[in-house]
Amino acid sequence: MRSGRREVRSVRAWLAGCRGEEVSVVALEASSVRKVYTKNGQPLAILDVERFSVREGELITVIGPSGCGKSTFLHIIGGFIKSEGGGSIRVYGEEVSGPGPDRGMMFQEFALFPWRTVAGNVAWGLETQGVPRAQIDATVGKYLQMMNLSEFRSHYPAELSGGMKQRVALARVLAFDPKVLLMDEPFGSLDAQTRETMQEELI
Ligand SMILES: Nc1ncnc2c1ncn2[C@@H]1O[C@H](COP(=O)(O)OP(=O)(O)OP(=O)(O)O)[C@@H](O)[C@H]1O
Ligand SMILES: [Mg+2]
Repeated sequence: MRSGRREVRSVRAWLAGCRGEEVSVVALEASSVRKVYTKNGQPLAILDVERFSVREGELITVIGPSGCGKSTFLHIIGGFIKSEGGGSIRVYGEEVSGPGPDRGMMFQEFALFPWRTVAGNVAWGLETQGVPRAQIDATVGKYLQMMNLSEFRSHYPAELSGGMKQRVALARVLAFDPKVLLMDEPFGSLDAQTRETMQEELI
């Protein structure tokens, strides 16, 4: 498993750079992330990451062959599974121990709520945070339009194609504006043209 760094500089960071200031706020920091699964009765070490950090505005891509532990790593950072023997995850310096709205997770298998409509899925994170209805509706409308899903707002996930489900999942995670976005193969089910549009929108 390896990671590729790509810096997506915010205007603030760019201006600070022009002024010669050092900009290196650490948004996400993980240390001693380990996972061991049992296979055929034998322990199998899947993951052993000593230190991983992402600065504000940075986009990091984790790459590696199927089964090497990419999803496991993201699930640990998202707080959905525990690292062996402790380990620590910090978001802007704050230690986190479970899932939270500071980290938006887009799962490889989409994980949409089947009982909620497209609009209901996108609204979910905002509803849990008690955002006023009018603001929720405006935000949901904005992201459904961005994902080209406005016409499908009243449909249920079972009525959608794989690529459409993936776009709903992307709209849902973007809508609640987390500090850190964790995306597990976010464009895997999209056609080449939509993938390119989504990549541009995201960056
Ligand atoms: N709950 C589990 N119990 C036992 N083994 C597991 C479990 N989850 C994952 N594994 C194993 O851990 C390894 C890493 O799985 P993971 O899903 O993290 O891989 P990945 O790099 O995301 O693969 P892909 O590119 O196919 O999505 C695999 O060998 C898998 O079989
Ligand atoms: Mg995976």
